[in-house]
Amino acid sequence: MSNGIGRREFLSRAWKWGAALIGVAGGWTTWDILQPRVTGGFGGVIKTKAADTVPDTNVESIRAARTYLTKIDGQVVALSEKCPHLGCRVPWCDSSGQFECPCHGSVFNRAGEYRAGPAPRGMDRYEFETIDGIVYVDTGAPVSGPAIGVETLNEPVRGPSCEDSSHG
Ligand code: FES
Repeated sequence: MSNGIGRREFLSRAWKWGAALIGVAGGWTTWDILQPRVTGGFGGVIKTKAADTVPDTNVESIRAARTYLTKIDGQVVALSEKCPHLGCRVPWCDSSGQFECPCHGSVFNRAGEYRAGPAPRGMDRYEFETIDGIVYVDTGAPVSGPAIGVETLNEPVRGPSCEDSSHG
């Protein structure tokens, strides 16, 4: 008799433990699926910095992601540093407040929108996710930059071009 009750109690507890384990495993799987696939290298998802520290009047270069982060109207934008013309790295010029490609002279505003030169469009962008306040940039699939003629950012040229000064 006491053995029967013991068995029933044992089975009851086993069921509860089994159900609890299944719940934990399900929760872990859900949490794991929702985490960004951080590869640590260019071509994957790269952890960058806190969204609230991304500059809103300037840009910040994230070399590991070959990306510039900036904010436009309070929203983070991740720009590919690769020129849409022939792929040179486009540096940011503080004095003019523009991106200025040293290879053939393409110029883009802080939002990566086309201003001048042979580039066929604005600078490409990366999609990103903000998780717990941190910006994770997906460098695997750049999104084509805006067409020539699209200039939504009302920021005039600040001053002298870096390209003019670098050529003397
Ligand atoms: S590669 Fe930038 S303008 Fe040609």
